[in-house]
Amino acid sequence: MNPPAALDIKGLTKRYGDGTLALDDLDLEVPDGSFFGLLGPNGAGKTTLIGAVCNLVRPTSGEIRVFGNPGGGMMARRMIGIAEQEPNLDKFLTVYETLLYHGGYYGMGREEAGERAEQMIDAFDLRNKRDVEAPKLSGGMRRRLLLARALLHRPNLVILDEPTAGVDLELRHELWSYIRVLHEQGTTILLTTHYLEEAEALCDEIALISGGKIVARDTAAGLKVSHGAETLEQVYLKTVAGGRIALAEEAARA
Ligand SMILES: Nc1ncnc2c1ncn2[C@@H]1O[C@H](COP(=O)(O)OP(=O)(O)OP(=O)(O)O)[C@@H](O)[C@H]1O
Ligand SMILES: [Mg+2]
Repeated sequence: MNPPAALDIKGLTKRYGDGTLALDDLDLEVPDGSFFGLLGPNGAGKTTLIGAVCNLVRPTSGEIRVFGNPGGGMMARRMIGIAEQEPNLDKFLTVYETLLYHGGYYGMGREEAGERAEQMIDAFDLRNKRDVEAPKLSGGMRRRLLLARALLHRPNLVILDEPTAGVDLELRHELWSYIRVLHEQGTTILLTTHYLEEAEALCDEIALISGGKIVARDTAAGLKVSHGAETLEQVYLKTVAGGRIALAEEAARA
């Protein structure tokens, strides 16, 4: 029998209370060990999808499995590390405490969590902010802390929702080399980003999402061939951004 996929999503639908249909009967399988990119325009449903996987958003219908375990359950939750698009840090906790308590929450002993917290502080270059509360960090530092926290409990599936938005060039390079090593060690990575070059360089598979549905899925090279495009940007414009580009062209002609 094949090992279970890191993520197996079937018929996932999310309709928010105000009637917005954010996910529309969506199917997606993310293979174990892959570096997977989820690309799509603002409002396509990426964050909602991630929220549903991480039990932050309650699906209207559909099924989610995380390495074969039911989504939302204890096993699934422990196997996932998430860095959300909007930094959600406790404003009363220092960098060290944020990491320490996260470890505790994910079942680590105090000593292990403390050691791991110190490791992550070094890995994400937060040593001189160790005892500073989150609101006193710069925006980029907050993002570093968010990532350090996501990785602290050694999750099998790491989900990064636009991790490099607002991050300086140096951290981007550091972050990607760190994530690449994690991936080489067997961790599955699910990434959303609006930087298409970044996705192309990093991801071994890419899914394009639009209007709450997956509209294309392949390697970057495969997507280019099947869409007769030279760049991933052209594929993106031809698929998910089609409507808006047509509108812009119409406006330009008027
Ligand atoms: N809590 C909410 N209540 C109502 N509608 C919501 C809520 N959260 C998101 N939506 C709507 O669901 C749709 C999908 O939003 P989502 O945040 O998943 O998009 P996204 O692909 O992550 O976009 P972005 O690239 O801007 O981050 C949008 O129309 C959005 O306005
Ligand atoms: Mg989003």
